[in-house]
Amino acid sequence: MCGIFGYLGKRDNALEIVIKGLQKLEYRGYDSWGVATDLNGELFSHKKVGKISEANLDDFKDKKVKLAIGHTRWATHGGVTNANAHPHFDPEKQIAVVHNGIIENYQEIREELGKENFVSETDTEVIAHLIAKYRKDYSFKEAVLKAVQRLVGRYAIVVLNVGENYLIAARRGSPLIVGVGEDEAFLASDIPAFLEYTQNVNYLDDNEMVIVNDGVEFLNLETGEPIKKRLVNIDWQAESAEKGEYDHFMLKEIMEQKDCIHRAINQDTDEIMHIAQQIKDSRGCFLSGCGTAGKVCMAGEYFFSIIAKRHVNFAPSSEFPVYHHFLRPESLLIVISQSGETADVLEAMEAAKKKGAKVLSIVNVEGSTIARQSDFSLHIKAGPEKAVASTKAATSQMALLLLIATAMIGELQEGRRILAEVASKINDMLNPRFLTYIKSVAEKIKDQENAYIIGKAENYPMALEAAIKIQEVSYVHAEGFAAGELKHGPIALITEGTPCISFVANDEVKQDVINNTMELKARGAYIIGISPDNHDVFDEWIKVPDVGVASPLVNIVPIQILAYYIAVLRGLDPDMPRNLAKSVTVK
Ligand code: F6R
Repeated sequence: MCGIFGYLGKRDNALEIVIKGLQKLEYRGYDSWGVATDLNGELFSHKKVGKISEANLDDFKDKKVKLAIGHTRWATHGGVTNANAHPHFDPEKQIAVVHNGIIENYQEIREELGKENFVSETDTEVIAHLIAKYRKDYSFKEAVLKAVQRLVGRYAIVVLNVGENYLIAARRGSPLIVGVGEDEAFLASDIPAFLEYTQNVNYLDDNEMVIVNDGVEFLNLETGEPIKKRLVNIDWQAESAEKGEYDHFMLKEIMEQKDCIHRAINQDTDEIMHIAQQIKDSRGCFLSGCGTAGKVCMAGEYFFSIIAKRHVNFAPSSEFPVYHHFLRPESLLIVISQSGETADVLEAMEAAKKKGAKVLSIVNVEGSTIARQSDFSLHIKAGPEKAVASTKAATSQMALLLLIATAMIGELQEGRRILAEVASKINDMLNPRFLTYIKSVAEKIKDQENAYIIGKAENYPMALEAAIKIQEVSYVHAEGFAAGELKHGPIALITEGTPCISFVANDEVKQDVINNTMELKARGAYIIGISPDNHDVFDEWIKVPDVGVASPLVNIVPIQILAYYIAVLRGLDPDMPRNLAKSVTVK
């Protein structure tokens, strides 16, 4: 949430570079945006409510500067206004700060520095005022160090000081990556922001600071001591973070799923076997994640149970710390996260570590905080996921969990074979006819206010996930249920024509789900069946391949497409749903 970007280097169009970089971070927040630079010894800034993708680069062409900072906002403290947009400044307009995170003690600092001196309602403004206060007696570097030592909370900040030809950035709890080019450096919340310029990165860790001038210099935030960092080469191509021929990232990422599953299962055999053994050796194994990643964990619970006959407990990460009573050194926590930066997941990990438990992570962003703070991390290799709604990361994560379950019973090769077949069947399924048919279903239900989804066993989590997909991009009220639960209350919501989606896989619970679907139909529901076989009860039949226990991987794909088309047909932008942001770095 919130994207920050800073540039310093040989090019004299720094403002343009920052704006273009922020446009690639727009998925992190799109309420408002702003930039700042030192223009001939004076602070120049520009802030605007709205999306940074709508910024007009021509407005900045005449400003030849080699250093700039910028921000794209997802509001936490203070409404969506120009005044609350970042960067924030000190009263003398000598210091400019962009920030991603939350400063918990900002009220106290505001009181101390004089509330009347503040022009915004944000927590961030206190950082600029604090730096300015220390700047009276100290160097820029020392002032930043002193200021951040006063902050309680999570932050990634980039700071510029008029008259000083360098940038300083610091992090505690929110992501910050340094892209290192030839005679230039980039400071950003995520890699795609600078991928067209460099693939060489340094990951800033918590309690670290970086000074960017002729080179990059890393320091410990608490002691001010220098730190050596390793330069990492990223194998993402710039195009993989672009929309290409597609209207939206969401559709592009849905279509990429066949390749992603191949990449996800192409893991080092020893690593997979090592993880399988750790799960077997653990006493109390937990799966945890948030939102879609949480539903992936629930599917994992079923995979481990059905395939490996092993009980694993799921808890959403925001709830997981409550489980600390059950944790001990022999426990294992497996966390799942696309971004690798989700604050609730990091908190769950902290709770586990406090009890001496081991933490394994399955993430998409290599080098992310979650990956680096785990005892062991697997990378799903899905490539950059830019749409806010998670699609390809989710199916890749499920593929990996299913693979691990097969490894636990010594059937890793068979697991790979099954999943390769799933990937190839998804490839066949994602043809223009399939998309056109789903679009026609979307046309029929797009004006409905409610939709319900049912599934059982390994497809129960997919009913929950389907609801998230529909809610978040189309704003239709959608709810998922365990198929057998409707008759215990929610069936009262069904009226004539209510769209109900039913996942009917060829498994041992098939007849139960059909029966539950009939109960809905008898109350007037309009039934959309997702199944390898047609059935009289379906009003619409979306045919999916029969892939046995891997059915969640193929079943969720048509719902992703359906959610996408409902959003588009309702005139919404599926890549940037209201109120949301990719990478939720606040609790
Ligand atoms: C929904 C969605 C979110 C994320 C959740 C966790 O489509 O994307 O529910 O799954 O915020 O994010 P990560 O996986 O980055 O930890």
